[in-house]
Amino acid sequence: MLNAATYKGQKAYIESCKECHGGGQALAGSKKQRIWEKLMGNKGEKLADIHTASKKAQPSWEYFNSRAYAKDARHLEDFLVEYAADSGNVPACN
Ligand code: HEC
Repeated sequence: MLNAATYKGQKAYIESCKECHGGGQALAGSKKQRIWEKLMGNKGEKLADIHTASKKAQPSWEYFNSRAYAKDARHLEDFLVEYAADSGNVPACN
């Protein structure tokens, strides 16, 4: 069972990240908790920088510069940390 914050983060992931990165639990599991905390700290500033510095990520610029992202960042962090490589949470198979 996902707690409410993790659930909100997963929903934000599906709406705003999945089209480019595929499954959220797989992406979350590609980094350790400490790394996600760094990328998502200060309203996700680092993650936004990575995208706005990349021409390939241009379709995401509007989102990363939006208030919606500033609001989602905290929930996205919960979700990504919950399924980080060293979280001990194996993604469910259902
Ligand atoms: C329009 C497509 C697109 C969207 C939407 C998008 N990304 Fe990305 N993302 C990219 C691209 C392209 C890169 C590679 C940037 C580079 O290195 O040049 C990237 C890089 C990243 C990285 C760094 C990868 C690494 O291995 O260090 C992370 C983490 C990431 N994205 C997570 C997310 C999350 C979380 C979201 C949703 C909030 C998101 N992305 C939305 C295209 C996208």
